Amino acid sequence: MKGIILAGGFGTRLHPLTTVTSKQLLPVYDKPMVYYPLSVLMQAGIREILVISRPEHLDGFRTLLGDGSALGLRLDFAVQSAPRGLADALLVGREFIGDQRVCLILGDNIFHGPELPLVLEEEVNKLDGCTLFGYPVPDPERYGVAVLDARGALVDLEEKPAVPDGDLAVTGLYLYDNEAVGYAAELTPSARGELEITDLNRRFLAEGRARLVHLGPGTAWLDTGTPDSLLEAGAFVQMFEKRQGTRIACLEEVAYRMGFVPADGMRELIRAAGPQTPKGRYLTRLLDSSELPLPARDVRTARR
Ligand code: G1P
Repeated sequence: MKGIILAGGFGTRLHPLTTVTSKQLLPVYDKPMVYYPLSVLMQAGIREILVISRPEHLDGFRTLLGDGSALGLRLDFAVQSAPRGLADALLVGREFIGDQRVCLILGDNIFHGPELPLVLEEEVNKLDGCTLFGYPVPDPERYGVAVLDARGALVDLEEKPAVPDGDLAVTGLYLYDNEAVGYAAELTPSARGELEITDLNRRFLAEGRARLVHLGPGTAWLDTGTPDSLLEAGAFVQMFEKRQGTRIACLEEVAYRMGFVPADGMRELIRAAGPQTPKGRYLTRLLDSSELPLPARDVRTARR
């Protein structure tokens, strides 16, 4: 399975923070925002990843992430020259995706939870059509909304409905079979001139091939779209990391736990981070500890 991070858009609600840089390069506590979705793709066992951004920001992403080889990844970069919608990411990434399945994640979505790697592993293996991840929110009108029937089955998907039918937001993490690329090419732009991801998902729903997974209370999904939510997301990460003594979206750690880099590669990463920095010391402790890698480490053997 291939991965795409869509880091486009104008970040209008965050102006002037986003006047000269991409929203997805802004800090969320101690790391750039794009690290968070990248770590989610890695936890899903995905190693070939395309980062899509606006042309003027592409160099920033390249400089930040490089080719990914130190983390056992293969990173590619592509431009979305106009905000043509989320589903357009599959068209921009058409060649990159080739004949494979794809996981699309929005560059401003932050997920965290101990169960996430296992949930992702299971869902990647089960995928047939498309898989969506729902999360209850107090303000569903701001999101894609999953409508369920009395038995809890997914019956409809609505994009930013004025009067939402339920409180289950569809988060910015999507798993697709390969035909999603062809379906995206057949979409017509919505009233706001964009290829809507919800329209693509509705196509799979109409075929009876859209699955909704509820992200349980053990998983946090954080918004970063406004100055307040950006600050709150940073405060959440700070509080969590300080209290637990662990790190969220520490790419070196995820790469090691997933088995993308061997111990030697990890030593190299520690050297690069600076062995005496807090992160270097954290990674050294991890390497020295007898702590077993996450079970999800074996995901690399799962169906691709
Ligand atoms: C987009 C999608 C929406 C989804 C949301 C998740 O909204 O259109 O369906 O719920 O991402 O972050 P946007 O970020 O464009 O407002």
